[in-house]
Amino acid sequence: MTSTSVRRHRATGLVVLCAALVMTGVGYAAVSGTAEAAAPEASQQQVEQGRQLFLEGCATCHGLGAQGSSDGPSLIGVGAASVDFQVTTGRMPLAQPSNQAPRKVPTYTPEMVAALAAYVATLGPGPSIPSDSDLATNDANLAEGGTLFRTNCAQCHNFAGRGGALSDGKYAPNMMKATPREIYEAMLTGPQSMPNFTDATMPAEKKQAIIKYIAYLQSASDPGGLALGSYGPVTEGMFIWTAGIGILLAASVWIGAKVR
Ligand code: HEC
Ligand code: HEC
Repeated sequence: MTSTSVRRHRATGLVVLCAALVMTGVGYAAVSGTAEAAAPEASQQQVEQGRQLFLEGCATCHGLGAQGSSDGPSLIGVGAASVDFQVTTGRMPLAQPSNQAPRKVPTYTPEMVAALAAYVATLGPGPSIPSDSDLATNDANLAEGGTLFRTNCAQCHNFAGRGGALSDGKYAPNMMKATPREIYEAMLTGPQSMPNFTDATMPAEKKQAIIKYIAYLQSASDPGGLALGSYGPVTEGMFIWTAGIGILLAASVWIGAKVR
């Protein structure tokens, strides 16, 4: 073997190596490229489904591009969390314009709700649907949740979470049916006259503590006696006032009749 043939041999090796590297690179890019393209394509389909559902069921009030109309507010930037909350609690679609959208049996399946939420999320940035880890309450502090609930929520929703009246015929609803996800979303989006508790003002751990406390209220058995809806001292006072005075009146009438 001459020295030139050895050199040529080495050069061919180098060329083969480079070619192999390039092929691997191109191959990898092709494979990973399709993998990346696959995911947005699937959600693109979901967004399109959501847009169709929106045009059929929501656009009459919220406008064809969700920009709002005289019958409903703009949904641009309300985020997926707001749609998920409003549609899974059955508040939307609203049957007719009224003071407040009541909780009712939901009209849409969870898949349809996800599509509607995905569509609205493309219109502008807004809070997204809380993840499973946002909703994990195992490590949450129940006692802290109770304190946070009494300082932030009880003034409207009552100490037992049974709801209460607000001005103009509006009300803070009873929370006994709300799921952890709905509670989280209510805090994130602040429906109607409820203030919103963003993650900046109330971090996830605090929300989890509140959720744990509400779950406790939902499961706590009544300590006994007549709860009167746990509406607090006003109902209790009214009850004893009417029933107590009623009994006293009945007794005096009965005694008076006896004497005569
Ligand atoms: C009859 C009219 C009407 C229809 C139909 C309707 N909405 Fe609404 N929507 C309203 C009104 C009015 C409000 C505000 C009232 C309230 O918050 O109680 C509202 C509020 C909302 C909000 C809360 C916005 C915010 O600021 O966070 C969302 C989200 C929403 N609607 C989504 C939908 C979706 C999705 C549909 C279709 C499935 C729908 N709505 C159908 C009238 C309507
Ligand atoms: C200023 C009064 C007010 C305060 C304070 C308030 N809320 Fe609300 N909340 C409301 C109103 C009003 C609604 C109903 C909105 C609607 O129907 O569109 C509501 C709805 C909800 C719902 C939905 C219930 C259901 O079953 O659909 C949940 C859950 C909730 N609030 C949780 C909370 C929590 C947790 C706090 C404290 C961190 C809180 N709220 C503080 C007024 C309030």
